[in-house]
Amino acid sequence: MGAAVLSRLALALVLALALALTLPSLALDNGLALTPPMGWLSWERFRCNVDCQADPHNCISEKLFFEMADRLAEDGWRELGYKYINMDDCWSAKQRDAVGRLVPDPERFPRGIKALADYVHARGLKLGIYGDLGTFTCGGYPGTTLDRVEQDAQTFAEWGVDMLKLDGCYSSEKEQAEGYPKMARALNATGRPIVYSCSWPAYQGGLPPKVNYTILADICNLWRNYGDIQDSWVSVLSILDWFSENQDVLQPAAGPGHWNDPDMLIIGNFGLSYEQSRSQMALWTVMAAPLLMSTDLRTISPSAKEILQNRLMIQINQDPLGIQGRRIVKEKDHIEVFLRPLSQAASALVFFSRRTDMPFRYTTSLAKLHFPEDAVYEVQDVYSGKIISGLKTSDSFSVVINPSGVVMWYLCPRALQAQAPSEGFRPVLL
Ligand code: GLA
Repeated sequence: MGAAVLSRLALALVLALALALTLPSLALDNGLALTPPMGWLSWERFRCNVDCQADPHNCISEKLFFEMADRLAEDGWRELGYKYINMDDCWSAKQRDAVGRLVPDPERFPRGIKALADYVHARGLKLGIYGDLGTFTCGGYPGTTLDRVEQDAQTFAEWGVDMLKLDGCYSSEKEQAEGYPKMARALNATGRPIVYSCSWPAYQGGLPPKVNYTILADICNLWRNYGDIQDSWVSVLSILDWFSENQDVLQPAAGPGHWNDPDMLIIGNFGLSYEQSRSQMALWTVMAAPLLMSTDLRTISPSAKEILQNRLMIQINQDPLGIQGRRIVKEKDHIEVFLRPLSQAASALVFFSRRTDMPFRYTTSLAKLHFPEDAVYEVQDVYSGKIISGLKTSDSFSVVINPSGVVMWYLCPRALQAQAPSEGFRPVLL
């Protein structure tokens, strides 16, 4: 080989190396979760109940997931976007098989995960599974150590899994920093589109400098930032407080394909009143949160179902711009206002009362809430469906907010000259 050819080869090598170094090597290039994922997740309501002798109806078994899939498909959920049926911890056997693969508990999942995935897919739904980057899952089942990442990604893909929640119990900070990006690459390499939910930030306190939201948004479709939700209003408030106090960090991290996850919706369970249930739904919607219900869809009450199936609410949650909302007002009298910008210059406002006395009449104006001057809005109340037409930025208005409740508005601007409702405003029949 001549010297000229050799030096050309060397140059090509250097160029290829430089290109490889500048290309993002971590990116989870899956094009998924362009709006916050919606569906059902077993954990908060059904936990690690594996006693199918004593409690066959509610234990973590294929029966539970088959039945919830039927409900999602038959009770109007799927059409509204609730497509993911997600298994959480405690689905697996206590040991891997002879070749080291994860296997479901043979007694509780006799037909195996592939059969469950086929069943779910036949009903137009998608299946989610749970793993844990570490020696054990939080519930003590086999974890995914660094040497198992590729194998487990492959197993999930072969089963036909569509979403993975990767928890972080029993691993070190260093292992997590290596393992979460490694799983992103392994999922990509399977060629199967799998939404990737990372619990990484929740194990690192949720804030910089320990948490790098730029890296997270590159490798994960959603991530748990904070502690677990429990079946109580206190728990909902603690999550809301943390997300609001840290919104300067968290809000910019969210967008199409990458979302903050304040944890499951507990509406339909035991801990929230009617008003509190409406509040969780509205507040999670303005936070652009994934809508993952954890409740018994076989016995859910009509009122909880109505809250979860509110079409305008879901339209707002799923807005294609994918901008997370912020708390914009915190009044001394325990009223807070949240704002989420939406596509077509629309927006959503949530007036939230932390009061414990009586319905509170809150008076303000869009000008006070920093809306552009000289604009006129068509407003629809998201829960009552009531329309307020022609609200000017300067108009003073009042909303009556129940204790621990919300009033939620959807607002569309219309031009001052054109007195007809704007193109973007189509009232939704609730
Ligand atoms: C952790 C997670 C929960 C749930 C449990 C399962 O606590 O944060 O969401 O997955 O583990 O053991």
